[in-house]
Amino acid sequence: EEMTQIETIGYLNETVQPEAGTIPAFILADPKVYDIEHKKVFMKTWLFIGHESEIPNKNDYMLRDLAGYSIIITRDSENEIRGFYNMCTHRGMKLCRADKGNKSSFVCPYHGFNFKNNGDLIGVPLQKDIYGTDLDKSKLGLHKIRIESYKGLIFGTWNEEAESLSDFLGDFKWYLDILAGRAEMEVVGPPQRFIIHSNWKVGADNFVGDSYHTMVTHGSIAKLGMVPSATYSKKGYQIHTMNGHGLNLGTPNPDFAFPEELKSEYKSNLTDEQYDVLANLKNMIGNIFPNLSFLISHTKVKGQLISNTTVRMWRPIGPDKMEVIAWFLVEKNAAEDWKKRSRDSFILTFSPSGIFEQDDTEVFTDITAAASGPMPVMKELVYNYTMGMHREPVSDFTGPGVVYGDKFSEANQRNFYRYWLDLINA
Ligand code: FES
Ligand code: FE
Repeated sequence: EEMTQIETIGYLNETVQPEAGTIPAFILADPKVYDIEHKKVFMKTWLFIGHESEIPNKNDYMLRDLAGYSIIITRDSENEIRGFYNMCTHRGMKLCRADKGNKSSFVCPYHGFNFKNNGDLIGVPLQKDIYGTDLDKSKLGLHKIRIESYKGLIFGTWNEEAESLSDFLGDFKWYLDILAGRAEMEVVGPPQRFIIHSNWKVGADNFVGDSYHTMVTHGSIAKLGMVPSATYSKKGYQIHTMNGHGLNLGTPNPDFAFPEELKSEYKSNLTDEQYDVLANLKNMIGNIFPNLSFLISHTKVKGQLISNTTVRMWRPIGPDKMEVIAWFLVEKNAAEDWKKRSRDSFILTFSPSGIFEQDDTEVFTDITAAASGPMPVMKELVYNYTMGMHREPVSDFTGPGVVYGDKFSEANQRNFYRYWLDLINA
């Protein structure tokens, strides 16, 4: 029989037990859970929108999605980045329909109301004739979306009461500095977008802490000699902070995989401790709660180890479906040839045609399909998340958060699901 939302939340509290290491399979496929998540998670937290370098010039704009709703991100004529709900305030037409472009105002395709890219309504066709003097244009501006940036990464939220982005990211900023703030970074090209039949949490779970799968899922790539097999070692740290954020950090790495000539730029943007992590980095893979994953990984391209940096959003579009949106980020001041090889390394590994991506998405879709099995069986089948429970955090690492002494643990996933459940109960 149908469960009401309150009954479903009660059931989630009984069965989702991160501290005990058990998570029931039905949360990856159940339409009610999907609806609850949308209201309690996606409408409440900060969500990634894009990178400032995607709209580098005055009057650039791009269309994005915020929790399933279309928004326009503009860089106005004062160079301020702003967000608006993509709806004309006259009769509700979708105001902008192009993915991106450059213009200082938007004319509605229905009756021609004209909105400046700071949200102000500046023109109404035949205004004096048909409205007389009664129309107050100042009351008909576009609906503003709350947006904030950190190191070029733009986030937005529908929740006017949400803490600041900076507070939401908290200690995790220390790691985001290495990812997105180590140098002036830019997005190359439009983000790659593709749809797969997977629940969004499978992607977040995989990136927040699952390095354990690499030896098996990606084993063939190492056998082919396309990555150093040491890539799959558990060596490094698993780290999580509050609000469900987490990452795995592979280290040490004797080969500096970033452009040598940028060392001074890195040093001026990072603390000595952060630079030390970067200089010894083998890989860094994590997830900003709820659904923005990121990756710095190194691949051999034409015999040389080269890093590539990507952020990717698992955008839910149904209980068993998501759009993956992947941005490739590169050091703006690197040599053109290095940038190109870094992009080649990204395309070879984590683009839709990438060898790692192909391996992972096959797993993601099969997990989701299995989780869509019959009820009530799927409530009784629970996943095992107990890895590393017998271990204590270590204190020999320089960065903040709860740190474990190697990457093979499920502490990060338990932290992710704890925060997920806390939001559902909030
Ligand atoms: Fe936009 Fe009428 S709906 S001008
Ligand atoms: Fe993988």
